[in-house]
Amino acid sequence: MAYDFDRRIPRNGTGSLKWDFISLPGERCFWDETDPSKHARPVLPLWVADMDFPAPQEVVEAVTERARQGIYGYAIPTDAYYDAVISWMARRQGWQIEREWICLTAGVVPALHMLVSTYVKPGEKVLIQPPVYYPFYRAIENNDAVVVLNPLIYENGRYRMDFDDLARKCADPAVKMAILCSPHNPVGRVWTRDELRRFGEICLTHDVLVVSDEVHGDLIFGDVSFTPYASLGGAFSDRAVVCTAPSKTFNLAGLQSSNLIIPHPELRAVYRKTLQRNGFYTLNAFGLLAAETAYRHGEAWLTQVLAYIEENYHCLTAFLSTHLPMLKPVPLEGTYLAWIDCRALGLDADALERLMLEEARVYLDEGYIFGPEGEGFERINLACPRSLLIEALERIKTAVDALKR
Ligand SMILES: Cc1ncc(COP(=O)(O)O)c(C=O)c1O
Repeated sequence: MAYDFDRRIPRNGTGSLKWDFISLPGERCFWDETDPSKHARPVLPLWVADMDFPAPQEVVEAVTERARQGIYGYAIPTDAYYDAVISWMARRQGWQIEREWICLTAGVVPALHMLVSTYVKPGEKVLIQPPVYYPFYRAIENNDAVVVLNPLIYENGRYRMDFDDLARKCADPAVKMAILCSPHNPVGRVWTRDELRRFGEICLTHDVLVVSDEVHGDLIFGDVSFTPYASLGGAFSDRAVVCTAPSKTFNLAGLQSSNLIIPHPELRAVYRKTLQRNGFYTLNAFGLLAAETAYRHGEAWLTQVLAYIEENYHCLTAFLSTHLPMLKPVPLEGTYLAWIDCRALGLDADALERLMLEEARVYLDEGYIFGPEGEGFERINLACPRSLLIEALERIKTAVDALKR
């Protein structure tokens, strides 16, 4: 079937994190459209990574039918679930995995926290590559481990890894783990095979465990190709944990279903112990069903949604180059999150945030939340109806024009 991604579906008042919650500078509150004393005009939310599109029709139907049965007892992953995951990874990502490698978790972020608690002792160190998805910092710090930064290099409008710095940082014996964001949120890079190999070789030399967060691994554009880190095989795969999920791919984040893939049996056994220690024995019945159905029947939907998002990105770049040439979008290879260099506006982080939120009245993810390396950048979620994106861009243009006057 052909999907209509142009349709604007109201989400306010549904307990949606994206639409009902807003963080204001210095204040966190629930968005209340009905309180005119607080806000003159509703804010358009293009921040957190969920889509304003319904999931594939097959998923909606499967979940609805299951809901109608009315019995919501404990669920277990079936053979069909495992087959769907294995087949998806082979078909879409060219990686043949084995059933026993799969460890189910209720979300990648909780899994990252448990991975740090499993493999890293308090006081030991974990390396990340800012600007990067901010829960990485939390997963490390909440487990009393120490964040080590290996910032990405931004040069000629493109991001790359700093391998010399990586080697220096990994040489510290206290560094036990590196969390790779692949594809990278927020900079939109899809790491090449060569980059992954160089990254992996340095980690292997210093016996640093690689946790590769590949939650955006199905959201790839143009002729870019995605390589799952552990598909490099051999020692790379033996010292790796891959985090994957249908949540970003099919917009199922609220159903909290994800998979860790841990090829090495000993590494896996230690992680399973952590799951048991924390009492994680069962998962959400709707999450399992939605994941299986999406992996089995969602490919046509994914093709269409990727084409729509890619067109949104073209729409964004065309709008910026015509109306706001001082805002420079970074090339988008993967994820549906565009990263925009706004430094030419000459505003500090606080003033830029106020401009977007209070003048333009759009809610984006401020670059600084991904680390100081992100200051002066904005992250904008492209997985929305085009008219909403254009409305947000028009608002930004009006606010920037007023700034110039
Ligand atoms: C890199 C990355 N990892 C993990 C997540 C969230 O995963 P989950 O919803 O499964 O916790 C996100 C969501 O934006 C993300 O960008």
